[in-house]
Amino acid sequence: MKIYSGKLVCSAPVSSQFPRDHLPEIAFIGRSNVGKSSLINSLLKQRDLARTSSTPGRTRLINFFRINKNFYFVDFPGYGYSKAAKILRRSWSHLIDQYLEERKQLCVCVVIVDSRIGPTSLDIGTMKWLQKLLIPFFIVLTKADKLNRGELKKSLKHTESLVSGVPVLAYSSTKGIGHKQIWLFLNNYI
Ligand code: GTP
Ligand code: MG
Repeated sequence: MKIYSGKLVCSAPVSSQFPRDHLPEIAFIGRSNVGKSSLINSLLKQRDLARTSSTPGRTRLINFFRINKNFYFVDFPGYGYSKAAKILRRSWSHLIDQYLEERKQLCVCVVIVDSRIGPTSLDIGTMKWLQKLLIPFFIVLTKADKLNRGELKKSLKHTESLVSGVPVLAYSSTKGIGHKQIWLFLNNYI
C-alpha cells in the first residue's frame, strides 16, 4: 500500500463527533501502553502522527486518521490503565463500546497484544465481544524485538492456542518486523 497522505482529522470524546463521510475504518484496540499508536505510525511510516508515550493512558480520545483520502485508521484509548480516574475510564470504555456496537464503517479490528505477556483476560474479553458482534479481527503481537526467535515462536503458539482460528502476526515498530504481512491483511478490507 502506497501512503501518500495521512492526517489526524478528528479526536472524538463523544460519538456525535465521529467522522460522517462513511469511509471504511480499521480500528486498533488493546491494553494501555501496548503500542497501538506506535503501530499506526510505523504502518504509515510517519514518526509522530499518532502520539506515543511511555506513560500509559496517553491516548484518551478516539482518534481518526484519514489515509489517502479513502479510509481511516482509528486509534483507541487503551484499556486496563488502572491509574486513570474511575469516571474517566468509564467514559472511555462506554465510548469504545458505542463505537464497536454501532459503527457501520468498521471493517476490521487489529487487536494488539504485548508479545512478552500474551493475551490477558481483558484481551480475551475484548475478543469475545468482537466475536459476539461479528466484527472481523486479527491479533498483532507487538514489541517482537524484545524476544528472541524461540521466545517469539512460543508466544505466537500460546496466543494461537487461546484464540483458535484467529490469525496472529508478530510485529515490531522499532525493527519493522511484520510490516508487509499486516498490510497484506489490511488490504483485504480496504
Ligand atoms: P496508550 O495510548 O497509552 O494506550 O498507549 P499505546 O498502546 O498507544 O502505546 P504507544 O504506541 O504509545 O507505546 C507505548 C510505549 O511502548 C512507547 O514507549 C513506545 O516507544 C514503546 N513501543 C511501542 N511499540 C514498540 C515496539 O514494537 N518495540 C519496542 N521496543 N517498543 C515499542
Ligand atoms: Mg496510544
